[in-house]
Amino acid sequence: MFKIAVLPGDGIGPEITRAAQIVLKKVEQAFNLKFALKEGVFGGAGYDAYGTPFPEETEKMVEESQAVLLGAVGGPRWDDLPRELRPESALLALRKKLGLYCNLRPVKYFKVLAEKVAWKPELLSEVDLIIFRELTGGAYFGTKGRKEKEAFDTIQYSWEEVERLVRRGFTTASKRKKILHSIDKANVLETSRLWREVVNQVAKEYPEVKVEHMYVDNAALQLVVNPQQFDVIVTENMFGDILSDLAAAIGGSLGMLPSASLGGKISLYEPAHGSAPDLAGQNKANPIATILSLALMLRYSCQEEEAALAVEKAVEQVLEAGYATGDIARKNSKVVGTQEMAELIAQRINNPSGKIT
Ligand code: IPM
Ligand code: MN
Repeated sequence: MFKIAVLPGDGIGPEITRAAQIVLKKVEQAFNLKFALKEGVFGGAGYDAYGTPFPEETEKMVEESQAVLLGAVGGPRWDDLPRELRPESALLALRKKLGLYCNLRPVKYFKVLAEKVAWKPELLSEVDLIIFRELTGGAYFGTKGRKEKEAFDTIQYSWEEVERLVRRGFTTASKRKKILHSIDKANVLETSRLWREVVNQVAKEYPEVKVEHMYVDNAALQLVVNPQQFDVIVTENMFGDILSDLAAAIGGSLGMLPSASLGGKISLYEPAHGSAPDLAGQNKANPIATILSLALMLRYSCQEEEAALAVEKAVEQVLEAGYATGDIARKNSKVVGTQEMAELIAQRINNPSGKIT
């Protein structure tokens, strides 16, 4: 029995996590696995119910689980709250509490979505890259302050914090194409100079991996003009946040980008997109990023590679069959809702034709 804490959160969060559970049910049957799910209030929903975005009961439930599946947090309703009470603070607290310093964001190009991407297809045919974003340091967690018309955030990194993230990047790079891009702003930032030193030191243990240092501004440009040069990217928290949204456009929509946050005993899986309040409650949101995050859970937390691949394959097959949510709809697409998309994917788990038997 594998214990999962489900935190739907806000906006489209409840719909997309419900959709992922439809797929999970099918995985249980197809692979003879058993999952025990518990749901907790989190983010703005937590604030509304308990006056805090990360209620104690939810914290306890998370501690008793083996992995967390999260929808999304935030929305305009909670935007004017003080920082500690904002839904996003709960997400940062959860990442920190679980020690999830390594955020993986695999970016894949789906040929069938060629019409939806801003790039010429020939620029993308080979894109299959993975971003290692440092997740528990940098400006997100450094000292902050506000005094009337002045404010500051601090970026601070220790050698160890950089090393443990970078090492994971090298390990993966050595098993893939043996290219690693380290993104920084070492021409301006002291933390970036430390980052570079650490990368060069760890690189000595992986002589087979070719390392390229790149400034973040240039990296943004390079992701647009020549994304195929990248395979493994390692970078600090905020650069990773920004570059991963940029790279998500390669997948045709932010609604396609999953993520896994690793580093502690309990890992967290969440789509890289936000809570899309404008779509909430309408069965319109794209559940694929959440479903692909579920696949990452099967891979990294359950060690069920076969099941993970089956989910990823089912997603591809549904797209190839012409089904789409609004965000990825093409000229001749059959547009379906959140729940229908999940059902179509579930039907195709180990059953490529999608025929109900
Ligand atoms: C993400 C999100 C979060 C982040 C927000 C909601 C705090 O944008 O997971 O990329 O910046 O990390
Ligand atoms: Mn982001």
